[in-house]
Amino acid sequence: MMMATKIFPLLHFFTLLYFFTITFASIEEATSLLKWKSSLHYKNDSLLTSWTQNSSECRDWNGVKCSNGRVNSLDITNASVIGTLYDFPFSTLIFLEYVNLSINHFSGIIPLEIGKLTNLVRLDLSNNYISGTIPPQIDSLAKLETFHISKNQLNGSIPREIGYLRSLTRLALNNNFLEGSIPTSLGNLNNLTYLCLYGNRLSGSIPVEIGKLVNLIETYLDSNQLAGHIPPEIGNLINVRVFSAFSNGISGPIPVEIAKMQTLEELDLSVNSLEGEIPEQLVSLSNLEILNLSYNLLTGCIPQGRQFDTFEESSYAFQGNIGLRGLPVTRRCHNNGVEEGNDTSSLLDQEINSQFLIEWKAILLGYGCGLCIGFSIGYFMISTGKPKWLSRFIEEYEHTITTRRRKKQRDQRDNKRRNNRF
Ligand SMILES: *[C@@H]1O[C@H](CO)[C@@H](O)[C@H](O)[C@H]1NC(C)=O
Ligand SMILES: *[C@@H]1O[C@H](CO)[C@@H](O)[C@H](O)[C@H]1NC(C)=O
Ligand SMILES: *[C@@H]1O[C@H](CO)[C@@H](O)[C@H](O)[C@H]1NC(C)=O
Ligand SMILES: *[C@@H]1O[C@H](CO)[C@@H](O)[C@H](O)[C@H]1NC(C)=O
Ligand SMILES: *[C@@H]1O[C@H](CO)[C@@H](O)[C@H](O)[C@H]1NC(C)=O
Ligand SMILES: *[C@@H]1O[C@H](CO)[C@@H](O)[C@H](O)[C@H]1NC(C)=O
Ligand SMILES: *[C@@H]1O[C@H](CO)[C@@H](O)[C@H](O)[C@H]1NC(C)=O
Ligand SMILES: *[C@@H]1O[C@H](CO)[C@@H](O)[C@H](O)[C@H]1NC(C)=O
Repeated sequence: MMMATKIFPLLHFFTLLYFFTITFASIEEATSLLKWKSSLHYKNDSLLTSWTQNSSECRDWNGVKCSNGRVNSLDITNASVIGTLYDFPFSTLIFLEYVNLSINHFSGIIPLEIGKLTNLVRLDLSNNYISGTIPPQIDSLAKLETFHISKNQLNGSIPREIGYLRSLTRLALNNNFLEGSIPTSLGNLNNLTYLCLYGNRLSGSIPVEIGKLVNLIETYLDSNQLAGHIPPEIGNLINVRVFSAFSNGISGPIPVEIAKMQTLEELDLSVNSLEGEIPEQLVSLSNLEILNLSYNLLTGCIPQGRQFDTFEESSYAFQGNIGLRGLPVTRRCHNNGVEEGNDTSSLLDQEINSQFLIEWKAILLGYGCGLCIGFSIGYFMISTGKPKWLSRFIEEYEHTITTRRRKKQRDQRDNKRRNNRF
């Protein structure tokens, strides 16, 4: 009994202290947010007009949410807000978990104080006019899972400190002016599922450490200035569905290890300087729907069978890969040497045949009449003297028709996917 009477007033005191602290902290948060608000420009019907001194930030302010009486979510997207982050209350809003300022007119640099938001889980600053570099201080955002800052004007390189964001699952830095190489520390982010770095000025080669990101599902490295070879370690990405690295300066061979990426649905390596042959093993990629290897320096025979029978000429863009042979670019190309035989003579042979094929296709397109088909077939039968060719060409014609139908579906899906990127 004696103990209880002593404890109750003590408890009461602590409860009061707790509420006092919360209330005080809450007032401080509201005041600091109002200070930031006063530095911003916005329309008179903006959600920011609900932020007033005489109302509760946790109850009445649009875009603000609280947890345990402290601001933990700030969502001001697409609100035509003009301003900077210079007066943002980084030191006060330490309980923030979600910040979304995307689709506004925020400019200026990212203050180094961003490192104080150590509870952040999702940060989205996309679609603004933010410039300068990504501050290395982000290394303290250990709980960050989503980091989107695409479509801004960031320059400098991706700081190697990004490798400390071990919780990261989604990283989108696309459409900025980032330069330098992709930091090898990126390989530490083994929970990463979405990596979007396209549309920058990144150089150097794709780091071998990318092979450690075994949870990656979508990877966009395209439209940069990447060079070097594709690391064979890429084959470790056994969950990846999209791998896009087009419009770079990547050279060397297509690693056969890509055949291990069995979940792959889209592979776009077009507009690079890849050389050598397309590995036959890629035929085993049974989920592959979109393949683009056009505008490279590839040679040899295009693999045949399975998915490869569905890809059209635009997957290889004949003019871009002058050394590439086989369907759907030229007539069938045998790896067993039947048609290749002596390298030089067979090359010449193929060249003539492909030229012939283009003319033949032009006739088909130009007139599209049965007469022409008959003419062409007749001409071929006479000129080659091989009845095998007849069936081959009829087969090919059917192939063109069926793949055209597939391509339509594929293009629709592709467009949807591209629009979904950030
Ligand atoms: C906002 O400003 C526009 C003119 O810019 C005006 O027509 C409108 O009445 C204002 N709305 C409010 C709620 O003040
Ligand atoms: C709060 O103050 C603003 C002016 O600062 C006023 O327009 C608004 O009506 C007030 N709201 C309440 C709920 O008293
Ligand atoms: C932004 O808001 C405008 C209307 O205020 C709307 O038309 C537009 O679709 C929104 N944009 C996005 C990306 O949500
Ligand atoms: C931020 O808001 C935009 C627009 O509402 C939304 O599309 C985006 O997914 C949000 N970002 C995050 C990280 O939730
Ligand atoms: C980034 O751009 C600004 C000008 O907008 C320039 O002053 C600065 O030197 C650039 N930084 C780097 C690292 O290129
Ligand atoms: C990575 O993901 C797993 C499974 O979702 C989770 O248990 C783990 O905590 C995550 N790691 C980090 C560093 O967030
Ligand atoms: C492949 O990329 C080239 C160059 O960007 C483009 O012209 C072609 O249409 C693409 N083909 C497919 C199948 O996506
Ligand atoms: C290919 O033909 C050339 C002459 O046309 C000859 O010198 C060369 O040895 C031949 N190569 C093979 C592998 O038969």
